[in-house]
Amino acid sequence: MKNTSTCMHRGTRREWLARMGTVAASAALMVPARAQKAIVIQFSHVVTPDTTKGRAALRFKELAEARSAGRVRVEVYPNSTLYKDREELEALRLGAVQMLAPSLSKLSALGVPDFEYFDLPYLFPDAASFRRVCTAAVGASLLGQLEANDIRGLAYWDNGFKVFTANRPVRLPSDLKGLRVRVQASKTLVSQMKTLGAEVSISPLTAVYEALRNGQLDAQENVLTNIESQRLHEVQSHMTLTQHGYLAYAVLVNKTFWDRLPAEIRQVLEGALRDATQFANQIAPQENQRALAKLKASGRLAIHTPSAGEMEQWKQALSQVSRQLPASMNPSVLEAMQRAMRAPP
Ligand code: LMR
Repeated sequence: MKNTSTCMHRGTRREWLARMGTVAASAALMVPARAQKAIVIQFSHVVTPDTTKGRAALRFKELAEARSAGRVRVEVYPNSTLYKDREELEALRLGAVQMLAPSLSKLSALGVPDFEYFDLPYLFPDAASFRRVCTAAVGASLLGQLEANDIRGLAYWDNGFKVFTANRPVRLPSDLKGLRVRVQASKTLVSQMKTLGAEVSISPLTAVYEALRNGQLDAQENVLTNIESQRLHEVQSHMTLTQHGYLAYAVLVNKTFWDRLPAEIRQVLEGALRDATQFANQIAPQENQRALAKLKASGRLAIHTPSAGEMEQWKQALSQVSRQLPASMNPSVLEAMQRAMRAPP
């Protein structure tokens, strides 16, 4: 956690976050009748401002501030400047930060393991199928389960399909065998890498560049915008466009904070978020295409597009993953997701 190390000696990190939560929640909600102090929303995330999530967070800020005529101020903290992966979820739960948009892969840490179904390889044939799941009852029900943590799920934001990068050619699933590969904190992703015979490492996004550079890691998976904006092409030599998994986000708010907002402000924020969501989903494919063009232009990576036969081998190898999921996951959720995907648009 940056900017805070000097406070840490007076108690545990949890106590510190709890204190911060109380201070932040009361500060953010104090709206004296005469002074009309702005309601401050701190929105923390772990990627750069020029990615899909970064741009959508800024669009939300712009709309929320303009439409509330200055009654709301949104402070966006990109690139883990406020909190890293796990810390940000804890900070949100305790109200030390008001909004986040973590990837769905990280939400099982909040006691909702069924979010990990989103990580199943080759589950979504396209972005439209993913979106049908989000807008179906099963999507709403998953967000609803976060309320036990004092967290309200407001929206899903798209990103796109993940690919592998490595410090050697990875044309076929067997090429990942024995490599140390970074994944996000999801048991489904751990299982995915074990299925391929890789050594798995879970680490926050901010640590990936350095671990690849110094050889602690050989490979990683991510969307093209994250690979390009985190400059992973500087420390990897090969990229294979496997498109094997989908990365997307949930926009979350601290529920106590949200429920205490004046109703008219909540309405303004809901409208701003609806439009920011539409913006995110619209730019996501373009942003990934733009990142691919930049990665090609960098000349640092040998980029491989799998042939139809190679793609079949990836799908075949990764089909095992759905049979190795933890017992804590509820198969009826996956069935509901599959039904939603098949529903007519
Ligand atoms: C990652 O950790 O790789 C991603 O979740 C980052 C992000 O938020 O896109």
